Amino acid sequence: MKGIILSGGHGTRLRPLTNVTSKQLLPVYNKPMIFYPLETLLKAGIKEIMIIVAPDHCGDYMRVLGSGRDFGAGVRFTYEIQDEPKGIAQSFLIAENFLDDGDNATLILGDNIFEHDFTNDIQNFKSGGLVFAREVEDPERFGVLEFDQNGKVISVEEKPKVPKSNFAQVGIYVFDGRVLEAAKSVTPSARGELEITDVADWYLKKGELVAKPIQGFWADAGTLETLHRASVWARERANLS
Ligand code: DAU
Repeated sequence: MKGIILSGGHGTRLRPLTNVTSKQLLPVYNKPMIFYPLETLLKAGIKEIMIIVAPDHCGDYMRVLGSGRDFGAGVRFTYEIQDEPKGIAQSFLIAENFLDDGDNATLILGDNIFEHDFTNDIQNFKSGGLVFAREVEDPERFGVLEFDQNGKVISVEEKPKVPKSNFAQVGIYVFDGRVLEAAKSVTPSARGELEITDVADWYLKKGELVAKPIQGFWADAGTLETLHRASVWARERANLS
């Protein structure tokens, strides 16, 4: 299993903080934001990780994260630049050479902070697509998953005006070696992005998409409010341990 952390974008909602550095390097209590998704991957046993960054501040990532050596035996980071934020699904196209041995891949967004432990799901993953769901009050802001009575996914839509459920698809995705083929089949949406929900839909149409619920704290720390909420949670957690 390989890991990809998508850590690009302009971070416009966090200016002027993001004039200093990339959003995903801003502090969440006692660590740069990206450490949280990175630790999620490392905890699940993933050691080969590609970090995709925007051209601005890209050197900051190498300075902070280095080769991976400081994060454990056998941990290896590679870096790629996303010139323009053209959508989350573009990650797989950027990572084409990294994924060319047909390995399974877990993609996580650099601003998504999870308390949930994905270790079992990632280590036991065999094939198809595995995404994760969380009930939210404002589903129109997210990718939305619809389920039948047996908990089977029946639709997945990016930021629908009229959401079919309250279940958001959160920012971590596990796909098998066909993910490159899936990502190559995606065309830009009305907002001009290669949507990750369309990659999930590629697996759904084959009857191979599974969605599981997550437990505990989750934040997409991309706004001042959620960044603050994430810091408060991280402080409580640090003081408990
Ligand atoms: O947080 C979960 C949600 O994340 C999902 O429910 C949605 O399906 C998914 O599209 C995404 O929605 P957002 O509105 O949060 O996407 P945003 O454009 O803010 O991008 C999420 C992160 O990924 C952000 O830290 C910037 C980074 N990113 C995004 C794009 C589109 C990139 O690095 N490159 C990109 O091209």
